[in-house]
Amino acid sequence: MKLIFAPMEGISTYIYRRLHARFFGGVEEYFAPFIAPDGSGSFKSSALRDILPENNRDITLIPQLLVNRSEPFVHVAGELAAMGYGEVNLNIGCPSSTVVAKHKGSGMLLDLEGLDRCLNEIFSRSPLAVSIKTRMGLESTEEFPRILEIYKKYPLKRLIIHARARSGMYRSPVDIQGFLSCLDSCPWPLWYNGDLFSPDCATLWDMAGDRLAGLMLGRGAVADPALPRALNGGPALSVPELENFHGALLSAYLEAGYDGRSAMARLKELWFYMLCKFPDSRRETKALLRSQTLQDYSFAASALFHSGKFSPTCYFSQ
Ligand SMILES: Cc1cc2nc3c(=O)[nH]c(=O)nc-3n(C[C@H](O)[C@H](O)[C@H](O)COP(=O)(O)O)c2cc1C
Repeated sequence: MKLIFAPMEGISTYIYRRLHARFFGGVEEYFAPFIAPDGSGSFKSSALRDILPENNRDITLIPQLLVNRSEPFVHVAGELAAMGYGEVNLNIGCPSSTVVAKHKGSGMLLDLEGLDRCLNEIFSRSPLAVSIKTRMGLESTEEFPRILEIYKKYPLKRLIIHARARSGMYRSPVDIQGFLSCLDSCPWPLWYNGDLFSPDCATLWDMAGDRLAGLMLGRGAVADPALPRALNGGPALSVPELENFHGALLSAYLEAGYDGRSAMARLKELWFYMLCKFPDSRRETKALLRSQTLQDYSFAASALFHSGKFSPTCYFSQ
């Protein structure tokens, strides 16, 4: 089963990706969280650090852009090509209100003629192969056939479909049937994304057969970093390896120059997902999330790991 790691802003940083690959693996590629260049193609130094090849040595990384105009896209794609990348992904999925208000992310679906024009310019000028990660609509997944007709005009490297409309944010039921109904008519490799949280998601793979290029895992893999490995027949997550992974992440953030508070904040964001592996741990969880100092945090994390409340078969759900 071909698996890729979803871009997760604030979570799947270069530090996270490198350690995930070292401790667990199981995914063929990692998608970087979006870079949002301004009109002239400039972007934050933190975003540059995240995609620099020297920070992503042992993994295959696909950078992603959040733009709605071809100029900054082509400019940054040129820089990515110079760094040695072969593919750049366009984000047509982000549901955040501020992003949509700027007609970026899934907001590009507000004006389909404008989307078509933008893609026309991007595909005629990009120095790199372009893939798209998309929602299936703004208000309803029933909008997708029209959107797909536009995508079909272009030589996408691949299409990754998050099987929800923007209105569903990350919560509404995913439209598996709508996704499956596109499989036969898409001319490029098609990847599925959305709510793949446990080994049961292998059934989608069975249903789609070899018409599906693979699966993109997001929150499910953050909650259980061994999920991709388990889906490929490897062992389930164990407490010692999760504890070692967690310790390595904390050390790596501190070594990268994060102060204690910011490093803790990164890890607490991960715990939002990973706590599902520790059902019935209210007391330990409270201490962990309320900790203010690095010392209290490390103490609380250790208490949780050694609480005996770990369950390898509990998975993320919303
Ligand atoms: C905290 C968070 C950050 C995300 N950041 C990005 C991003 O930078 N680019 C992107 O295309 N999608 C982003 N997503 C969406 C995920 O890549 C993925 O499509 C979504 O979580 C659905 O997949 P899942 O159900 O497997 O988690 C983000 C999602 C979350 C929850």
